[in-house]
Amino acid sequence: MHHFTYTNGVLHAEDVPLPQIAKEVGTPFYCYSHATMTRHYAVFRDAFGSMDVTVCFAMKANSNLAVVRTLAGIGAGADVVSGGELQIALKAGVPAAKVVFSGVGKTDAEIRLALATGVGQMNVESEDELRRISAAAAQLNKKVRVALRVNPDVAAGTHDKISTGRKDDKFGIDWTLAPALYRKARELPGIIPSAIAVHIGSQITNLAPFEAAFLRVRDLALMLRGEGIPIDHLDLGGGLGVPYDHSAEPPPSPADYAAMVKRTLGELGCKLTFEPGRLIVGNAGVMVSRVIGLKDGTTRRFMILDAAMNDLIRPAMYGARHEILPVYERAMAANVAPVDVVGPVCETADRFAQDYQLPEVETGDLVAFMTAGAYGAVMSSTYNARPLIPEVLVKGNSFAVVRKRPTFDQMMALEQLPPWLS
Ligand code: LLP
Repeated sequence: MHHFTYTNGVLHAEDVPLPQIAKEVGTPFYCYSHATMTRHYAVFRDAFGSMDVTVCFAMKANSNLAVVRTLAGIGAGADVVSGGELQIALKAGVPAAKVVFSGVGKTDAEIRLALATGVGQMNVESEDELRRISAAAAQLNKKVRVALRVNPDVAAGTHDKISTGRKDDKFGIDWTLAPALYRKARELPGIIPSAIAVHIGSQITNLAPFEAAFLRVRDLALMLRGEGIPIDHLDLGGGLGVPYDHSAEPPPSPADYAAMVKRTLGELGCKLTFEPGRLIVGNAGVMVSRVIGLKDGTTRRFMILDAAMNDLIRPAMYGARHEILPVYERAMAANVAPVDVVGPVCETADRFAQDYQLPEVETGDLVAFMTAGAYGAVMSSTYNARPLIPEVLVKGNSFAVVRKRPTFDQMMALEQLPPWLS
């Protein structure tokens, strides 16, 4: 469910017509809906009822300051994977105690920053990292709760590039090696090894792999408790999928997911942390682009947009399908030929959709890429010297630019010529 709907034939974000934003901000741009992201957060949170749950928004999905502040304002914590994300979280008003620092490679500088700011939990990915965190914490005379992120060797059944819980993936500590590392952790200063973390992938549309992973976590927790290691906290990661393509089977609901969590882990009585990203913001964002032109080849028709793979890389990178809607509603005429929807970047990979059935659109028309709020703007680049596109946040009938489009000079500000060329 989201708040991008047609009113009087014009696609709106909540109560704001998208053409109005296009007129004031220019295209392409990302547009987020306050009502959608807050609703998703609440639905997910409420699915767990009275269970002791903290929802740490996975900022990698969308680290825009205004987005993170919106979620912080309704109680969300943050799952961060870099010093940069940590600083945005704190700036957005997320209490440090509600920050989980994940990520497969943390530098010593990032570890020091996390400890200095007092993050609530660090998710450890290796013995080496465990020792570095312990040493840094001891030096600061601090104690930090750590979870070992275990790799449960479970295939998430999602795209290969975003599966993280198989034994050959770079993530986590093999679940069979984890007990020995907990025993070592118990002896180290500066850390409290009282949690287990797991995350097996993203855009998961089936509960079975989650359940398989959580059962391994349960067995591990019981075993460690049996040895006197008091596991009282589980971080179950993110990964619940969202519907991109309405012809596909809908992903499980947060309620079904929560019921499965309760069934598999409820009796342990642990505090639970979740790290959803896509589920909170995926449907809460669209990317709006203008049609630069149409081109007919001998075999195909191309619709060329002013947005490109550098603005939304998911189709090129994962073969992802984002629904494309005309901003001015049109009936689908019977004889309209399908189009290849492409951007202007000089790569064949710069193709958003192939043989896409879109109502007749003309040069200058606007189209919206749906479900672009997660892993959209955050993954963009300036390839082909294209400026990053602005981000706009809508609330009711108001909207604000929450990240500006840089000018050419701003884009070039970090570049300089060496003395021999200037
Ligand atoms: N926690 C950890 C440790 C993660 O690695 C991730 C995502 C999440 C939470 C949030 O997962 P979510 O709830 O959003 O599925 N760029 C890719 C997705 C990469 C996901 C990386 N890790 C895409 O566009 O599909």
